[in-house]
Amino acid sequence: MMHLLTLDDWTPEQVAQTLALAQDVKTAPENYADALRQRTLLMIFEKPSLRTRLSFETGMTQMGGHAIYYDTSTSPMGAGKETLHDTAKTFSRYVDVVMARLFEHAHIVELAHHADVPVINALTDLAHPCQILADLLTVREKKGALKGLKLAYLGDSNNNVTHSLMMGCALTGVNISIGCPEGAAYSPQDAVIEKAGALATVSGSRVEIMHDAHTAAVGADVVYTDSWMSYHIPREQLDARVKLFTPFQVNAAIMQAASKDAIFMNCLPAMRGYEQTADVIDGPHSVVFDQAENRLHAQKAVLITLLKAAGRLS
Ligand code: CP
Ligand code: NVA
Repeated sequence: MMHLLTLDDWTPEQVAQTLALAQDVKTAPENYADALRQRTLLMIFEKPSLRTRLSFETGMTQMGGHAIYYDTSTSPMGAGKETLHDTAKTFSRYVDVVMARLFEHAHIVELAHHADVPVINALTDLAHPCQILADLLTVREKKGALKGLKLAYLGDSNNNVTHSLMMGCALTGVNISIGCPEGAAYSPQDAVIEKAGALATVSGSRVEIMHDAHTAAVGADVVYTDSWMSYHIPREQLDARVKLFTPFQVNAAIMQAASKDAIFMNCLPAMRGYEQTADVIDGPHSVVFDQAENRLHAQKAVLITLLKAAGRLS
């Protein structure tokens, strides 16, 4: 069964084909108006969402299918009354495909292991592959190609978005420079560094981790940041994290260090005055809402790809 749990589950060819399909879906959505007719997507959420929920549900509607929003706070699984095994075996009897936003990556791996339908990771503590497919689509639209570009990511880097960006860049030949505070708590996980490094060797790109924001940003074609207060971070940590991450804030000086036609990206939600200043996110280099829109097109392509691979599309 083909799933999408982390981007490195997929080959560079599968990523390229899905991005090409996403572009086609975006250009001519009418050609896909019946692509998922009578198909049902289950959307399991343990955490909040705006973009992921709306883009998946809209995508299913636009392709003639249906999506079920399922909040674990009202589920037997969330109440600790039903195992992941029994949940997966049961949903496999009703729906054609599942997306899940869960705290622990190990739990989505277990769900997928027991599921008889494709499972899509809609964000775990380890990875956010759907976001990065949309991001790669956005970068390619804005820059014309991916291979050989430089993306600088600044901020919290022991982070799902950072991990998936590393994999996505390494799979597509984009050089990635990460600027983050020192220490394992704020840096990408070792296993991700190792895997992304191996993929980068194949694609001919570079994965660098450094602890100076300016150096990471120099000459970048894309400057990317993510929240310092990811959904799972308790509010009490705000002050300490602001102090720690402020040297990695994306501001006018950082954009000045990047290439003069650099684009600014943030997966959103964003906090102005924290991971980026308002003049950057609301300024001429920012593509954050194009990026958010592309979640819709990229995920339509993911759904078609996985349902086709599972033999669930005629
Ligand atoms: N970027 C993203 O996944 O946004 P949501 O948390 O709103 O889904
Ligand atoms: N790193 C963020 C991404 C939100 C889309 C989080 O986990 O909350």
